[in-house]
Amino acid sequence: RTNCNPTEPKPTKSMTFAQSQSALDHAGVGAESIAELFWVMLIGGTLIWLIVVGLAVYAMVVPGEHDQKKTRMLVIGGGAVFPTIVLTALLTYGLAMLPELQRPAPEGSQVVEVSGVRWWWRVNYRMPDGKKIETANEIHLPVNEPVEFKLKSEDVIHAFWIPSLGGKVDMMPGRENRLKLHPTRVGVFRGVCAEYCGEAHTQMAFDVIVQSREEFDAWLHQQALPAVSGSDVAEAGREVFEAAGCGACHAIRGTSADGVVGPDLTHFGSRRSIGASVLPNNADNLTRWIKETHRVKPGVEMPAFEAFADDELRSLVRYLGELK
Ligand code: CUA
Repeated sequence: RTNCNPTEPKPTKSMTFAQSQSALDHAGVGAESIAELFWVMLIGGTLIWLIVVGLAVYAMVVPGEHDQKKTRMLVIGGGAVFPTIVLTALLTYGLAMLPELQRPAPEGSQVVEVSGVRWWWRVNYRMPDGKKIETANEIHLPVNEPVEFKLKSEDVIHAFWIPSLGGKVDMMPGRENRLKLHPTRVGVFRGVCAEYCGEAHTQMAFDVIVQSREEFDAWLHQQALPAVSGSDVAEAGREVFEAAGCGACHAIRGTSADGVVGPDLTHFGSRRSIGASVLPNNADNLTRWIKETHRVKPGVEMPAFEAFADDELRSLVRYLGELK
């Protein structure tokens, strides 16, 4: 997509995407191994390139007759033996990292179930008592603990990837894949869909918040509660939400809205972003999202609601914002 589109989301002052999305800026055990592998491969590759180019230049600039036997040795040595040794060494080195990365998380680890849906993420947390809590497009993780992800898809193939924390894993329809991650640093990181899955593939991202165990427990406890919102304006917004039939697709626990087609909005106001990490979550952006859904995120399943009166929209946005 080009940047000349006047309706392209523009960065606002409140844009708080201070989000890392690189294995080189690693904050997890898996990403650390990937970064190490990257540097070894890069340095190894650079050395080989320098040797090969050096020899080629040498062959070109050094005049005189070449001894045929020596030349043959050089071709066999430099062209076959040397690359075989180096590539075998790099392969062995890379494969040796796999068992640790593939080892499942220990029994009792936090389990997070994530489903890829065009084009957002359904997130379920398993509570200690076995109960499931649903949220969307934002994943919280306790720092310095292994976490077990169970990854599924509800439609096409997606891929779950948090570059700063570890490797990516495909999400296949009709099958469950596992991924163990082990965050080692507190922070906000960006996760993405890493498998082309249709029109809004590039706008299928999520926020990952790595926090202390205490903060994580507090967050999980709060997510488990039904929705609460306070003001009268918000109450009017709840009526707008109901009248417009938003509850057919979205669930808000504690109200009559129990749709399962779209993201659960029970604690929508507590999330950092809107539309699977497309816009920072604030009143202006939410207003825009509801009115111009398809301009903000072409291909999205949610219809745009252009017909709301200004005061209806204002109270609706207020209501959703208060769902913390
Ligand atoms: Cu989902 Cu690409």
